[in-house]
Amino acid sequence: MSDALVFRRVRAVDPAAALDAEVDVVVEKGRISRIGRGAAEGMVPGERVRIVDLQGAWLLPGLVDLHAHLREPGAEGKEDVASGLRAAAAGGFVDVCCMPNTRPVNDSRVVTEMLVAKARALSSVRLHPIGAITVGQKGEQLTEMADLKEAGAVAVSDDGRCVTSSRVMRRALEYASTFDLPVIQHAEDHALTEGAQMHEGEISTRLGLRGWPRVAEDVIVARDILLAEYVGARYHVAHVSTAGSVRLLREAKSRGLAVTAEVTPHHLLLTHHALLGYDTACKVNPPLREPEDVEALRRALVDGTIDCVATDHAPHGVLDKDVEMAGAAPGMIGLELCLPLLLGLVREGVLPLSRLVESLTTAPARIAGLQAPGLREGGRADLVLVDPNASYLIDPSRMRTKSRNTPFAGRRVTGRVAMTVCEGRVVHTDLEA
Ligand code: DOR
Ligand code: ZN
Repeated sequence: MSDALVFRRVRAVDPAAALDAEVDVVVEKGRISRIGRGAAEGMVPGERVRIVDLQGAWLLPGLVDLHAHLREPGAEGKEDVASGLRAAAAGGFVDVCCMPNTRPVNDSRVVTEMLVAKARALSSVRLHPIGAITVGQKGEQLTEMADLKEAGAVAVSDDGRCVTSSRVMRRALEYASTFDLPVIQHAEDHALTEGAQMHEGEISTRLGLRGWPRVAEDVIVARDILLAEYVGARYHVAHVSTAGSVRLLREAKSRGLAVTAEVTPHHLLLTHHALLGYDTACKVNPPLREPEDVEALRRALVDGTIDCVATDHAPHGVLDKDVEMAGAAPGMIGLELCLPLLLGLVREGVLPLSRLVESLTTAPARIAGLQAPGLREGGRADLVLVDPNASYLIDPSRMRTKSRNTPFAGRRVTGRVAMTVCEGRVVHTDLEA
């Protein structure tokens, strides 16, 4: 590692620091030592100084993902901690929270500790396990949340499964709040989605596929908001997909409740029409919805009703996806696609860049209780360098994730992660040294 890493004449953007300016940024000893016009004046490249001078580049705080599936332990063929963190770094992320629906389920101190230890040994980007709400994610008995927290868990969730029982959810909210752990709900009334393959609507009828109605999400979000209010706990909704959920969240927030939510890039960009070709890469849970849902999600992200973006990176192998729709596993990869895809919404004028940055840095960090990456002198050097003008076709075969399941293959995007820096270390770059 060089003693100094210098970004010359970058557009540095960090809404939390009220920063959007062309500056030099100097990194030394894992920290940002200087930010400013001419801050790198007189510094020359050499053995101890690396100078990055990428015409027109943007420098953002490193990104935070509140929701990824890294598949370890149990399905390392799809992903493991090492490949998952490489993919995260390639996507510009410096903090990754990983969901507990592994085999075994991360419902214990040992699994959480194992994940933390593996990630530490890699000295890549930071990993933050999310522990299960219930033992084995069976929806019955609460986990030992004190143990999970002590071992490094930043939240609890039964993601992939909903905590259906109101009694269990009430107890989970009460118990988790004593440890200040946010409860992240996968909002799906399973009684309403049995055998469902896609969003219930005109297209599911046309294709003859069993539908997953919006109301299966909405009823859980509504109930949980009431429970969270009753017990005075924090509550977070994973991968919001419906206009109805947005309405409920907006109402809850207007009453000052400690309710937060995330949305995925795919729910912001795709609709159920994508299923018309029976492409199992488009099967995801919750399913891709209708244009009016996408519209509501976009508006909610812009106005803060939805706090943050989370990838729901869900790697699956061909054995799980090259099958008929009914047998296909739900989910798509997201770590390396999130930023390039969402920069498209920025370019279209749908999403202000400052709001995109916030929703991938300070907002998720606040929810998970993490120190937010930021561009401040003296702060930890967690950065992502973006070449906003690079235009290319998405090619899953070039990605760091072990899996290839994405419906975005072949799509043209503009904007590339050129370098990711975590605590001053270059953890990813495609620039020449
Ligand atoms: O699409 C999904 N895939 N949704 C989930 O809730 C779980 C995830 C997975 O683990 O594959
Ligand atoms: Zn998930």
